[in-house]
Amino acid sequence: MKNTILLLLCFVMSLGGYAQKFDGLADTPPMGWNTWNTFACDINGELIRETADAMVASGMKEAGYEYVIIDDCWHGERDKKGFIQVDRERFPSGMKALADYVHSKGLKLGIYSDAGTKTCAGEPGSRGHEYQDAITYAEWGIDYLKYDWCSTGTQNAPASYSTMRDALYEAGRPVLFAICEWGDNQPWEWAQDVGHMWRTTGDIYNCWDCEEDHGDWSSWGVLRILDMQDGLRKYAGPGHWNDPDMMEVGNGMSQSEDRAHFTMWSMLAAPLIAGNDIRNMTPETIEILTHEKMIAINQDPLGVQAWKYEENDGLETWFKPLENGDWAVTFLNRADEARKVNFNWKEKVVEDPDFDYSVDFSETTYTVEDIWNDKKLKNTNKALKAEVAPHDVLTLRLSRI
Ligand code: GLA
Repeated sequence: MKNTILLLLCFVMSLGGYAQKFDGLADTPPMGWNTWNTFACDINGELIRETADAMVASGMKEAGYEYVIIDDCWHGERDKKGFIQVDRERFPSGMKALADYVHSKGLKLGIYSDAGTKTCAGEPGSRGHEYQDAITYAEWGIDYLKYDWCSTGTQNAPASYSTMRDALYEAGRPVLFAICEWGDNQPWEWAQDVGHMWRTTGDIYNCWDCEEDHGDWSSWGVLRILDMQDGLRKYAGPGHWNDPDMMEVGNGMSQSEDRAHFTMWSMLAAPLIAGNDIRNMTPETIEILTHEKMIAINQDPLGVQAWKYEENDGLETWFKPLENGDWAVTFLNRADEARKVNFNWKEKVVEDPDFDYSVDFSETTYTVEDIWNDKKLKNTNKALKAEVAPHDVLTLRLSRI
């Protein structure tokens, strides 16, 4: 009931022309890098400049990565009038100069705040200062705001996030608004017109399938987060994405686990926000993070997430509808031993459970390309026989003949 009244109010306000988010900033899932997974509070201006340089030099920019995002811990105090300042020890040049530098590389700068009185690391939150902060960010040249949910007490999430959305809009500089309340208030039900993406879960942890217990909260391995996306795909689409959190690719999982992680985030049309030290990457990590054909699946203009079509003994088959009637298909092997794939296309009718996409392989034939191995396979008139290594994927792109 409360939510309905709020939605009605939002609607009426939107008729007045002021309650809006910026359009066109996230027609495909946002791509970038964020400090948190690797550096937590150990951040400074040099790191941001070097990361912007590395984003260009590594080929990530060319592959589509755009946002360099400073997470928690950049904050100084508020001044006497309540305007937030940057921590001058960590960021001696100030934020505006940093934004200018990042922009000079053809990239965009993101920043972090919190809807409550304090951020999760105990820095000043935006509560009561939303319009001031939005003006400050616009003056600094910020392009992206991740907005967290610590120290929010009894605050109402849709109202709090809408306030910041309105403040950003009033400040006039287009800012991609990333909602981060961990799925606690079901943002998929109300945030379509509020933010461009919303976290669906608690924090990711750098492991394949684990729960990391922090006392009163947990962070989660890749498979745990993947499973928590169940039922959410119908809420996402161009301009408003489910966000299963930043990536851990390059942070210590095995190469096949990293590949599977990147693949599943791509299949989910998730924001691709790298969380490793991109100044020092192995060739394998670069290959995964910049994989053109996998990124094309993530960035497909249709903007429809994959769903799990079937599973058998740890082997899952996922289908993602793509533009022009193409499909991406991933066989994900969660098991600790190899699994055989024997997929007889012609016996399969695939129907999207949430949207109006379907394919009957007895009627339509597709070419089959193995995305990671850059190899054309036999078309869908022949059954697919393959083996998938443990904790790995086989991803195919099907194109109509
Ligand atoms: C929360 C968020 C993380 C990160 C930290 C920063 O835990 O979910 O992504 O932003 O706060 O303190």
